[in-house]
Amino acid sequence: MIEIHKSAVDFARQKYDVLVPTMGALHAGHESLIKIGKSLGTKVLVSIFVNPLQFENKNDFANYPKSIEKDVALAESAGADGVFIPNKEEIYPGKVNEVSAGALGEIYEGKSRPNHFNGVLTVVKRLFEITSPRLAVFGEKDFQQLFLIRKMVKEHGLPIGISAAPTIRDEFGLALSSRNVFLDIDQRKSAQVLFRTLKKSSIDEMKQEIKNEPNFKLDYLEIIDEESLSKADKSTQYKRGIIAGWINEVRLIDNMRVSFTS
Ligand code: PAF
Repeated sequence: MIEIHKSAVDFARQKYDVLVPTMGALHAGHESLIKIGKSLGTKVLVSIFVNPLQFENKNDFANYPKSIEKDVALAESAGADGVFIPNKEEIYPGKVNEVSAGALGEIYEGKSRPNHFNGVLTVVKRLFEITSPRLAVFGEKDFQQLFLIRKMVKEHGLPIGISAAPTIRDEFGLALSSRNVFLDIDQRKSAQVLFRTLKKSSIDEMKQEIKNEPNFKLDYLEIIDEESLSKADKSTQYKRGIIAGWINEVRLIDNMRVSFTS
């Protein structure tokens, strides 16, 4: 039986060696994070906490999908040993010591979502403090988030390994995301444009692909250096295409390794 924890005090003894932080509304992408965690460690804890600090928009926070019972069942069937479902006071008792994501937290995703990455790093650091895992698993779908978490771990000297899990896609290439539940059938079809765009072999082809999908409002499309997040140039070894935008009000992001810069 999976153990359900609601209090930070439960982690006074180091009980779990792997942490999979989530905001709930679990889907097959999370399932894969849990399975990867289980393959790398012994006892996997899944945290479920919709972190108010990382939402710049109050409605977005209030409307974030919630499905706790289903989440616990999915975590258990994926092999998790425990779930941690804290309330806000458990995570942020007293004054919040905000972690700054710095300048790299203000570009791309951070430009459209001010303070988002400060909120993400702040909650991830708190979860690490409370649960003291040896390893934590994050999805590659949130590439900038993964980069900034790794940077924080390094800069703060945290004794925690970070594992990256490949993006899980549906049969049409749409990256799984908790926000996909807000898309109707036609919008889901339009959302396939992100994957189609990332598979192109030049930036011009990418831009054309986006133009062909009028329901998608582009926020940014960049080819970046995976190792620094700066814009890629000819000398960049590992390049990644990153894309974000909206279908109606639903924000979608995706990324993929690419082999060109322009
Ligand atoms: O990727 C997410 O679901 C969240 O940003 C995270 C890492 C759980 C922090 O709230």
